[in-house]
Amino acid sequence: MKSFFPSDLPPAITLTIQSITKPWPRSWLHSYDLVHQRLALPAVRSFSAQDAVTNLIELVNPGGWIQLVEAVFKGGLDTGPAMLNCYRLFNEMFRIMGVNPHNAELMRGWCEEAGLEDVEERVVNIRVGAKNPKPELGAIGIQNVRQAISGFVGFAKCKCRPRLDFLIQFYLKPGPGIDK
Ligand SMILES: C[S@@+](CC[C@H](N)C(=O)[O-])C[C@H]1O[C@@H](n2cnc3c(N)ncnc32)[C@H](O)[C@@H]1O
Repeated sequence: MKSFFPSDLPPAITLTIQSITKPWPRSWLHSYDLVHQRLALPAVRSFSAQDAVTNLIELVNPGGWIQLVEAVFKGGLDTGPAMLNCYRLFNEMFRIMGVNPHNAELMRGWCEEAGLEDVEERVVNIRVGAKNPKPELGAIGIQNVRQAISGFVGFAKCKCRPRLDFLIQFYLKPGPGIDK
């Protein structure tokens, strides 16, 4: 993993490998003005997501901030049928992994329970593909989702069959697929 670290970092930046399910080094506790984490909660699996968030909060200096970004795959009026299928696949896989796919909706409560003040929650709807009014952004979304799905298909093929077989076929098939 260290081989991914860039070698030309400014002197003020250091990179370290640390699992969010393992205890922090003591010197890190209450020592950061800003703690940021994005899209890592599904990886905690059997470790409690709430405990992972509570532990992250312990890193924040009094007066500092924590910013947590997680996804909920729900869809809405702006979600096309291909993305709705995609969200079904994501949600089903998270459940099989023992991960609550709606952790993002619980994080605010966990922050308040841990005693944080000024807790704010923002929901951002992301329109992927043809539903995005800006085609260039829609295309980036497709690229991103395709990348995520390519990693998930192997998992889905061995763990989710036959319930998700139709989705696997849908995404493996060349053609319009998710772009519509
Ligand atoms: C969906 S990616 C998100 C990557 C990046 N944070 C972002 O938002 O683009 C999930 C990341 O969680 C990392 N991860 C998995 N298990 C972890 C753990 N126990 N502690 C910390 N990070 C973990 C993976 O290596 C992967 O980089």
